[in-house]
Amino acid sequence: MGFSHKHLLGIQHLSEDDILSILDTAESMAEISTREVKKVPTLRGKTVINLFFEPSTRTRSSFELAAKRLSADILNFSLQASSVTKGESLRDTVLNLEAMNPDAIIIRHAYSGAPHFVSTFCRSHIINAGDGSHEHPTQALLDAFTIRQEKKKIKGLKILIVGDILHSRVARSNIFLLNKLGAHVVLVGPPPLLPSIFTSLNVEVSHDFDKACIDADVLMMLRIQRERQEKYFFPSIREYRELYTLSKKRLKKAKPDAIIMHPGPLNRDVEIATDVADSVQSVILKQVENGIAIRMAVLYLLLGGKSREMSD
Ligand code: CP
Repeated sequence: MGFSHKHLLGIQHLSEDDILSILDTAESMAEISTREVKKVPTLRGKTVINLFFEPSTRTRSSFELAAKRLSADILNFSLQASSVTKGESLRDTVLNLEAMNPDAIIIRHAYSGAPHFVSTFCRSHIINAGDGSHEHPTQALLDAFTIRQEKKKIKGLKILIVGDILHSRVARSNIFLLNKLGAHVVLVGPPPLLPSIFTSLNVEVSHDFDKACIDADVLMMLRIQRERQEKYFFPSIREYRELYTLSKKRLKKAKPDAIIMHPGPLNRDVEIATDVADSVQSVILKQVENGIAIRMAVLYLLLGGKSREMSD
């Protein structure tokens, strides 16, 4: 078992062994964050660039902390203060940053395929931190890590992904990953946000949230991505709430020990009721915590740290 890829561009082309290798490495990384001194010298001398063309709270911060806990130097590219505002292209921006000899570039971009495009002309390791509606691989990895932590397995679990599936890179990466690890994935949402084409991804598709909830082990709620919608996909938020908000009443239909997940940011009382988001069944903040361990594991596996150095 190992990880032999140069880049992390998505989940679709990873094998089950690749995924397990990242999850298992993240177990060791999680321990580092519990120490009084949360730092090991594993990636000392390596340089990482956080290149975010879209806003982020969780992904950007946790990649920065992950790099720092492994002693890598990290540069946070500031879009608003950059020459992108003067019209510099993505290609020229990346070529100029690469001239500064980084080892890895972490990229988030509104265009699906931007990290793949960058990987075609870069020497550095490229990590996809979310591209358009395409993929968000480290989110799916931290979700799988959290499910495994809570449920001790993934195979055979009934996992609902609910909401704006059409525009969600989180949904796509999770569909690929959870399928590879043997979960029973059910996509739930209104028909305009969950077209029938998704059945080709080896998942069950349902427009009836109440029915789909029965016996669910995991409920993964998604935000409505208004920034990626050029038109309104449903008549009103009130109607959406009635049919698709995860309320206490709906949650009772799932297994009593079902866990509730959300990649963030939350639209409280739209896709998830506040009392559910803050309930004991919610693992939303555990997902955030686990994001650091997963991103440490990804940096470590791509940048070639030596395992013996992790105990220092
Ligand atoms: N889950 C996620 O990608 O959150 P951010 O947009 O805050 O990074």
